[in-house]
Amino acid sequence: MSSELGGSFPAGFLWGVATSAFQIEGSTEADGRGETVWDRFARRPWAIVDGSNGDIACDHYRRMPEDVELLRWLGVGAYRFSTAWSRIQPDGTGPVNPAGLDFYDRLVDRLVAAGIQPFVTLNHWDLPQALEDRGGWGSRATADRFAHYAGLVFDRLGDRVAGWITHNEPWCQAFLGHATGHHAPGRCDWSLAYQVAHHLLIGHGLAVQRFRASVAVGTIGIVLNPQYYVAASDRPADLAARGRVSWNAIDLFLDPVMRGEYPPALMEWIGPHEPRVGAGELSIIRQPIDFLGVNYYSGESVSHDVDGSLLKARSEPFSEPGWGRTEMGWGVAPSGLTKVLTEISARVDGQPIYLMENGAAYADPPIVDGSIDDAERVRYLAEHVEAAAAAIQAGVDLRGTFVWSLMDNFEWAWGYTRRFGLFHVDFETQRRTPKRSAAWYRRTIARNGTAGD
Ligand code: FCB
Repeated sequence: MSSELGGSFPAGFLWGVATSAFQIEGSTEADGRGETVWDRFARRPWAIVDGSNGDIACDHYRRMPEDVELLRWLGVGAYRFSTAWSRIQPDGTGPVNPAGLDFYDRLVDRLVAAGIQPFVTLNHWDLPQALEDRGGWGSRATADRFAHYAGLVFDRLGDRVAGWITHNEPWCQAFLGHATGHHAPGRCDWSLAYQVAHHLLIGHGLAVQRFRASVAVGTIGIVLNPQYYVAASDRPADLAARGRVSWNAIDLFLDPVMRGEYPPALMEWIGPHEPRVGAGELSIIRQPIDFLGVNYYSGESVSHDVDGSLLKARSEPFSEPGWGRTEMGWGVAPSGLTKVLTEISARVDGQPIYLMENGAAYADPPIVDGSIDDAERVRYLAEHVEAAAAAIQAGVDLRGTFVWSLMDNFEWAWGYTRRFGLFHVDFETQRRTPKRSAAWYRRTIARNGTAGD
């Protein structure tokens, strides 16, 4: 692996890692935490491939200090984690549950003491179940409640947090959660999914307003999840299908946030499923943001397919030459990252961009002499770091990158069967073991650029 791009990252470029509350914390009943939609969903038969749940996960709630030591060893400049709404307001409304907010306060203090900038996601999909029982994100009231919860967190942590993310991947929460049923709350209703997308966006706008009115000192944005979409052929039908998939993943969220409007061609296509939009709601959504977050994992080849559900499109994994698929079955397209960042950066009115997640699940080899030789993950990460450098050279104002994930964790509907960590987790003993990718990332951070092996 070459290291000639080492100098191409600007001084101050942020190297981070990312996690989310439900995927690592466990202790789902500790200190007054309320039930979330993912606790409930995981108990449905067949919802999680290995029949597992988040009850223990990485036991991070109890092992937080030792996990901060892992961050310190890596030398990261930033750590992205999420706050669990149901720890802070167990049923999603009302006064703060002090013990829940104290946990994040202690985490933030430890990070700051270690010289690590906290980046906090307010919604990484774990809605309090009590709110789901009242209509969940299908209800406009949830957006107001989200802003209230966000305000409680800004007031407590806002003096130390560098970056705030309102929502992580609202596309996943809306469509996997409410149209395909792959994720909590497991609904299958396209109209509901578009309404959820709209309410998530209102919640985003209201939370940004709340942030501006608070004394918090950091920056705020939202995280979207484009893949690199290629048309399966030059046939007009495939090109059009690629367009629809891309509108639905990106424009549906970016256009209202940046311009206060939904993409007209997509609205026309979805017809009766178009969300109901109340007076003034689009201007709530269109709030100035400080950055756009992008999560990037894979390439997809899109073709027209009459059986392809609402969008009449079928997506298959697309890998660039020399790459197979990851263990998720996802295609690998590092130079697609350069293109995605370049295209998105032209649409954000000069706002900075962060790569908020990038990483790969592979079937890791066993632990030998206290280490795991995850060569495929190292290659994946290194090529994506180079692709990020190429985007910067092409003029993208990319300020940082976060590896998904610090450690192996609960990978949603895949349970514990898919491992993305830089650190291996033995879920019997909770022992953390650095993989070769952890050592590689540590060197990359130290050099401010790709590290040779
Ligand atoms: C993203 C999610 C994150 C993790 C990775 C693999 O879609 O934001 O929680 O599951 O995928």
